[in-house]
Amino acid sequence: MTPSIAATQQLRHQLRQQIRHARRQLSAQQQQHAAQQLSLRLQTLDHIQHSQHIAVYIANDGEIDPQPFIEWLWQQGKSVYLPVLHPFSKGHLLFLHYDATTPMTTNRYQIHEPKLDVRRVKPIAELDVICTPLVAFDNNGQRLGMGGGYYDRTLSQWHQHRRGPYPIGIGHDCQYIPQLPNQQWDVPLPIIITPNHQFIEA
Ligand SMILES: Nc1ncnc2c1ncn2[C@@H]1O[C@H](COP(=O)(O)OP(=O)(O)O)[C@@H](O)[C@H]1O
Ligand SMILES: [Mg+2]
Repeated sequence: MTPSIAATQQLRHQLRQQIRHARRQLSAQQQQHAAQQLSLRLQTLDHIQHSQHIAVYIANDGEIDPQPFIEWLWQQGKSVYLPVLHPFSKGHLLFLHYDATTPMTTNRYQIHEPKLDVRRVKPIAELDVICTPLVAFDNNGQRLGMGGGYYDRTLSQWHQHRRGPYPIGIGHDCQYIPQLPNQQWDVPLPIIITPNHQFIEA
């Protein structure tokens, strides 16, 4: 029997709590090492080497830190973008160009984001790659986020028509779960990179 939506939601909630706790337990040294290893792995991917416009995020809540990777992208002359909560369209993200001089602010989730400036907005369709944060992932590329559905919405065009930026999930090895309970709106990722592994490549 398929579990009810309520039971699935309850299980997803528990998994989010459990894995967010585990990643927050990582020491500063473990986080730094993980961030360096992740950067090295990402640098070798064709999708990164052949792309110019790459979206990442600012780490929060024990997430793996893309900062060393961002520094490398800048050194390579690539353009880096960060997500910003859309000011009017609830549940949606905008992506803004990010460099070392970008004025930053804190959003309602206490996450750092660029100050909204329309001149810096990059249409999602013009991004080449989006490195997506995640709370948990599984063997099939399924992804559990923080519960806002932001990346499911951002990636729905890619999911339905294979149009738009290629998503690369990034996380710690401890965020792996063999099989996640999914919902119909979840967008599975074609590839997930951790400091020690590469999972699937569809
Ligand atoms: N493409 C979409 N269009 C509309 N609503 C969506 C879409 N994707 C997700 N949602 C909504 O976002 C909410 C959170 O999604 P969920 O998958 O639980 O979060 P997350 O992906 O952050 O773990 C759900 O209530 C879902 O209905
Ligand atoms: Mg989802």
